Amino acid sequence: MEREEEDEIVCLDESFFINDNYQLTTFTFGSQVLHLFCLHSASTDYDLTGQLVWPGAILLNDYLSKNDEMLKGLSVIELGSGVGVTGVLCGRFCDKVVLTDHNDEILNKNIDLHASSEASPCADLVAEKLEWGNADHINAIVQRHPQGFDLILGADIYILLATFQQSSIPLLFRTAEQLLQIRGKGKCRFILGYVSRATVFPTLMVSVSPCSMDAMVLSEAHRHGLSTKEVAGTRSVVGNLEGVIYEIALQ
Ligand SMILES: C[S@@+](CC[C@H](N)C(=O)[O-])C[C@H]1O[C@@H](n2cnc3c(N)ncnc32)[C@H](O)[C@@H]1O
Repeated sequence: MEREEEDEIVCLDESFFINDNYQLTTFTFGSQVLHLFCLHSASTDYDLTGQLVWPGAILLNDYLSKNDEMLKGLSVIELGSGVGVTGVLCGRFCDKVVLTDHNDEILNKNIDLHASSEASPCADLVAEKLEWGNADHINAIVQRHPQGFDLILGADIYILLATFQQSSIPLLFRTAEQLLQIRGKGKCRFILGYVSRATVFPTLMVSVSPCSMDAMVLSEAHRHGLSTKEVAGTRSVVGNLEGVIYEIALQ
C-alpha cells in the first residue's frame, strides 16, 4: 500500500459513536418509581439504540405493572434490555432477573445504581452479555442458569436492527426458542412488547411497511415452531405508534 493511501485510512471504533452523557431520569409505572441513567435521544449508528427507553418498554412496563401478581416469585430473563427499565421493574416483584444485551455498558451502570439504592429491589439483578444467535453466549447463560426461566421478556427488540445487519429477527427468535426449550413446552413463555413501525433495509435497498413488518415478525416466530397470541386488551397507541403485547410459546 502506498504511504499516502495509508495516511488517509481513518479507523473509527465504537467509542467514536458513544454518547455517554447519560441523565438520571425518573419513570413511573403504576405505584413503582424507577430512576435510571439514559439518553433522551440516540444515534442509530453502531447500534446504540439501547441507550434510551423505547415505546415498547413503556407499553410492556405498563402491562407488567398492571399485572404484577403474575410476576411474583418468577425467574425472568430479558432480551435486548437496553438501559434495563423492564428488568429493573421486574426486580420489584420477581425472585430472579437476568438482563441481557449485546451492548451492556449502560445496563451494568444501571444495575450498579440499583444495587446501591436504598429502595432495594426484591430480586438480585444480574447482567449477562447476550448477542442473539451467539452460541457461546447462550451456552454460558444455560450453564449459569441450568433451571431456565419462567418468563422471557423483550420490548422493541426487532426493529431498526435490520438497518445494521441484514436482519436480526431470525436470530432473535432462534435465541427465544433455545431459552424456551430449557424448561420445555408449557413451562416458559416469551412476552414481547411490540410496536408497529416501518423498517428500512438499506442492504437490500427496500423499505417495509408497518403491516408487512408485523407479518414478517410473526411469520419468523412461527418458522421457529413458536405460537403467537395477542394478549387481549393490550392493543394501544404509544406515542403516535400502535403497540400490542404478544405472548409467544413453544407449539
Ligand atoms: C430498540 S432497543 C430497545 C431497548 C429496550 N428493550 C427498550 O425497549 O427500551 C433494542 C435493543 O436490542 C439490543 N440489540 C440489538 N441487536 C441485538 C443483538 N443482535 N443481540 C442482542 N441485543 C441486541 C440493542 O443493543 C438495544 O438495547
